Parts: sequence; structure tokens; C-alpha cells
Amino acid sequence: MQLMGHSALVTGGASGLGSQVCREFARQGARVTVIDVNGALAEAVARDIGGVAACCDVTQSAEIEAAIAIGRKAHGPARILVNCAGIGGAKRLVGKNGPMPLEDFTRIINVNLVGTFNVMRLAASDMLSADPLDDGERGVMINTTSVAAYDGQVGQAAYAASKGGIAALTLPMARDLAQFGVRVVAIAPGLFLTPLLAELPAEVQESLATSIPFPKRLGNPAEFASLAAHIVTNLSLNGEVIRLDGALRLPPR
Ligand SMILES: NC(=O)c1ccc[n+]([C@@H]2O[C@H](COP(=O)([O-])OP(=O)(O)OC[C@H]3O[C@@H](n4cnc5c(N)ncnc54)[C@H](O)[C@@H]3O)[C@@H](O)[C@H]2O)c1
Repeated sequence: MQLMGHSALVTGGASGLGSQVCREFARQGARVTVIDVNGALAEAVARDIGGVAACCDVTQSAEIEAAIAIGRKAHGPARILVNCAGIGGAKRLVGKNGPMPLEDFTRIINVNLVGTFNVMRLAASDMLSADPLDDGERGVMINTTSVAAYDGQVGQAAYAASKGGIAALTLPMARDLAQFGVRVVAIAPGLFLTPLLAELPAEVQESLATSIPFPKRLGNPAEFASLAAHIVTNLSLNGEVIRLDGALRLPPR
């Protein structure tokens, strides 16, 4: 489908990759609901792009339902969902203070993996209320995994497991929703220059950039948004995880 005129939900839309997706989708004529736990930043992005904002924690079902209702009221049932909400965190299995606290593992799994699934299941229910378009398509869901799903580094057990889970659910969810004309695709970004990495000292950013075969620079969030927009328009892309990483393979540390 084209983006023009369609209702889109973007989680994590207040910052980084998600906010760039909101801007690009709005530029191409989509009607965007910016969903983020950071309500003030979500409002600011929504104001900029003429969309609406919803303050929502993706782990909280009632809050997601309220966010979807805000989008539906403003723009109609969403045919497009992009899940970018996520958190990082690195810790070794056994550190100086003993074993990694279980909560550190479950918190990351809960926000990244369970949160993504939670938004998918509730957004799918909304999506199925829309009539199919001429080609039979009802909607498309794009999730954000990471190259860490494949080459997780030392200390990344929780993050890599959460992103591996998102990669693994791509095909079964695409199979599950195929009967309704809903596609599911995931993007696995390498290293992108978002607030997360922008906080690192310049020399660390440079050293990260040199580890990328080509182009030897951190990814530009606009490149992520452009791939997300392409996925929306390409009906044959379904059930796949696409690496967007300049041929980067993360070393052990
Ligand atoms: N930047 C990179 O290099 C990179 C690489 C691989 C994967 N990713 C993934 O891309 C996604 C976006 O990352 P980013 O770099 O733009 O980070 P970011 O911190 O700039 O943006 C993440 C957004 O998610 C929101 N968020 C966090 N927890 C939430 C929750 N429980 N409910 C709702 N919103 C929540 C944050 O408030 C923030 O606005 C993440 O899932 C991240 O794991 C990023």
C-alpha cells in the first residue's frame, strides 16, 4: 500500500529511529500516531508533523488500547504499525557483585519482546476491522530487532535474547496474519546515530564507525525510515528480517 492517507501507529516515535519514521511517513502523507512512554517528546514530534500523540508504556495493555483508540479517533483504524520502542542494557552473567539480577533480564525482555508482541496483538485486532484494499492487503506491521539478535556481544544476553525473539516471531506472525492480508516484516539495524549513540564520546563513535565495512559511518536514521517506508509499499516483502547494517558483524566485545 502507499502511505498517503493511511493511519499509522509508531511506538518509540518520540526519539531516534521511531521519530524519523514518524517524520518520513508524515512526509509521504500518512496520518501518524506517535506512541511513546515519553509523552512530552511524543507531543513535540506529533505537533511537528501534524499527527497525534499517545503517552503509553508498551508493556501496559490498557495504555496500548487507549493509544490505539486515540489513533483510530483521529485517523481511523491503523493499517500500519511500526514498533521501535525499546531499551538497551549490558551486564555480564556473573559480575563483581555476583550473578546478574533476574530483574535486569526480565525488564529488557519485557519491554522489547513482550512489549512488541503486546502492541502487535492489540493493533492486529484494530487492523482486522478495516476492509481489505483492492489487492487484498489490510495492513502491515514492521518490528525493530537488531544485529545483536545474531551476533550478540559480551554482556548482551538479555538484549540479544529480546531481539532474537522479535526476529523469531516474524515468520509465524506473518503466517498467522496472512489469512487477513496483514504482512509482518522486521528490520535488524546495525549501528545507527540516534540519541543512544550520540551520547558516546566522538572517539568511541569513530571507532564504532570504522568497524563497519561500508559505508564506514554510523547509520543515518533517515535510512531506517526509508526502508520502513519501502516495506509498506512492497507487497511481496513478508515474513522476513532485513539486516540494515553496512555488512557489519559484531565482534565478541
Ligand atoms: N540506534 C541503534 O544503533 C540501534 C541498533 C539496533 C537496534 N535498535 C533498536 O531500535 C529501536 C529504537 O532505538 P533508538 O536508537 O531510536 O533509541 P531511542 O532511545 O532514541 O528511542 C527509543 C524510544 O522508545 C521509547 N520507549 C522505551 N521504552 C518504552 C516503553 N516501555 N513504552 C513505550 N516507549 C518506550 C523511548 O522513550 C524512546 O523514545 C530500539 O528497539 C533499539 O533496540 C537501535
